[in-house]
Amino acid sequence: MTSFKINGKAVTIDADADTPLLWVIRDDAGLTGTKFGCGIGMCGACTVHIGGKAARSCITPLSAVEGAEITTIEGLDPKGAHPVQKAWQELQVPQCGYCQSGQIMQAAAVLKDNPNISDADIDAQMTGNLCRCMTYTRIRAAVRQAADAMKGA
Ligand code: FES
Ligand code: FES
Repeated sequence: MTSFKINGKAVTIDADADTPLLWVIRDDAGLTGTKFGCGIGMCGACTVHIGGKAARSCITPLSAVEGAEITTIEGLDPKGAHPVQKAWQELQVPQCGYCQSGQIMQAAAVLKDNPNISDADIDAQMTGNLCRCMTYTRIRAAVRQAADAMKGA
């Protein structure tokens, strides 16, 4: 048994200790906003926050999250109005959308730690989140807009 909080709700999961957290999020918690891309930590589609830090849930075993606080895209903001989500909507970032919850979760974690981010740092911090639709230009602009909004907050 592994117990932790997901989006503020306490859960206890009866699964093997090496079960990927991504499986638990999608299949046990029913939170399907977090996506499966590569399964080997190389694309960022599965990004969630663990203790406020961005983490690849596909390569995080269940055993690593005992007592942890996990946030998924569904829990980032109760109204979907986090500054990153607002910037994404205003700049119409997504194309197919598949990678986008991971992109948003990565950006939100990065900006929480450092809203005074340079454009070069935005590129460096987002480089592990792949987008097959090539929305990178809009992603960069939206992270910039969200950063500016969070600086002024
Ligand atoms: S699915 Fe986790 S990094 Fe690609
Ligand atoms: S919007 Fe399609 S993969 Fe990124």
